Amino acid sequence: MDNFTFYNPTRIHFGRGEIAKITQEIGPEMKVMITYGGGSIKKNGVLEQVKQALKGITFIEFGGIEPNPHYETLLRAIDIVREEKIDFLLAVGGGSVIDGTKFIAAGAKYPGHCWDIIESGGDVVKEALPIGCVLTIAATGSEMNNGASLTRAETNDKVLFISPEVLPRFSILDPETTFSLPANQTGNGVIDAFVHVLEQYITYPVHAKVQDRLAEGLLNTLKEEGPKVLKNPTDYDARANIMWAATMALNGLLKTGIPNDWATHMIGMELTGLYGLDHAQTLTILMPALWKYKKAEKLEKLAQYAANVWGIEEGSDESKADQAIEATIHFFESMGLKTRLSDYDLGSQAITEVVAKLKEHGLTALGEHANIHLDDVEKFMELAL
Ligand code: NZQ
Ligand code: ZN
Repeated sequence: MDNFTFYNPTRIHFGRGEIAKITQEIGPEMKVMITYGGGSIKKNGVLEQVKQALKGITFIEFGGIEPNPHYETLLRAIDIVREEKIDFLLAVGGGSVIDGTKFIAAGAKYPGHCWDIIESGGDVVKEALPIGCVLTIAATGSEMNNGASLTRAETNDKVLFISPEVLPRFSILDPETTFSLPANQTGNGVIDAFVHVLEQYITYPVHAKVQDRLAEGLLNTLKEEGPKVLKNPTDYDARANIMWAATMALNGLLKTGIPNDWATHMIGMELTGLYGLDHAQTLTILMPALWKYKKAEKLEKLAQYAANVWGIEEGSDESKADQAIEATIHFFESMGLKTRLSDYDLGSQAITEVVAKLKEHGLTALGEHANIHLDDVEKFMELAL
């Protein structure tokens, strides 16, 4: 296990009725901006609960943050935050709303051009407005981490930045808010969280038992509970387990002291930027193909995953790895996700365009060994055609 420092100050309020705790988190002297997406929170009553909890506090609303939030929209929000002298940002939604709000928080306090935040990967962010979240989809972990991803619509660039300044002060995780999710977004969320764990687990062994067992626990939970909520969207216990698993999957705890892959995510971002695929849709195309291509390097962890998540105990490591890859593809499909580029009418031209974007973004040495170069991306993506 490698040395590490772990610190995560986000306060979590978890469970039914916890939205009311906003009252104790935001002081009456604060002027608040509620940020949200396309309106799901109006239909499912979450916005109403938030407004109740904000009684006595001055607030304005900024809606319309898109999935894969647009830089251009967020700049408009930053202008309003400055004009209205907002003190606190309350993000009510999924990863897109929370990520977008992180950018608004950093941008509002940044004296230069806001694109610098992206170009520097977040390094130029020295301060940000405080953020609170009411999470409405279990997926990204953004509610308890320091990362954010956004899209520049005019150039098809999907980019990210990281800064400790944008870690939410608090996040409210009420599983009931996710009852209203359409099946495809439920599936996306479960699979995104599942793949977050895999990015930190399917690498090579470093005798990190705590991290391995934690990863296996989260994977087993998502695999068991995911299908339940597709069948019964209002199964509270299953929604609760998924919600907490998704937060734990990407709040920094799991990645401590171990190698991390993330090639699937970095390449997937280009697929979203170029063709508008949902984030999770990109992951299920890329990860099985990458594993097939890098099977020798990942063999020990794939065999361990086969045994401890899929109960595949028989045969050589090679055979266990193959079976684990197949089981994973089957699980992705059972959650409603497709696993090939051709499922989205994408062919070899898409591979060429993805590789060009990776080059433009300087992403030329990916994976836990930093040995996935552009020619490797081309070769392994052909396995996903
Ligand atoms: O916009 P509204 O109307 O709210 O509808 C949303 C949206 O259309 C809908 N939705 C959310 N909660 C709902 C609901 N519909 C009904 N009932 C509810 N309770 O779901 C749609 C998708 O929402 P979105 O926020 O885009 O989903 P998700 O949480 O999957 O976020 C995806 C974004 O997060 C980024 C992705 O790249 C993508 O931009 N990621 C962020 C990460 C992070 N910050 O750590 C890590 C991830 O790997 C990922 O990159
Ligand atoms: Zn993800």
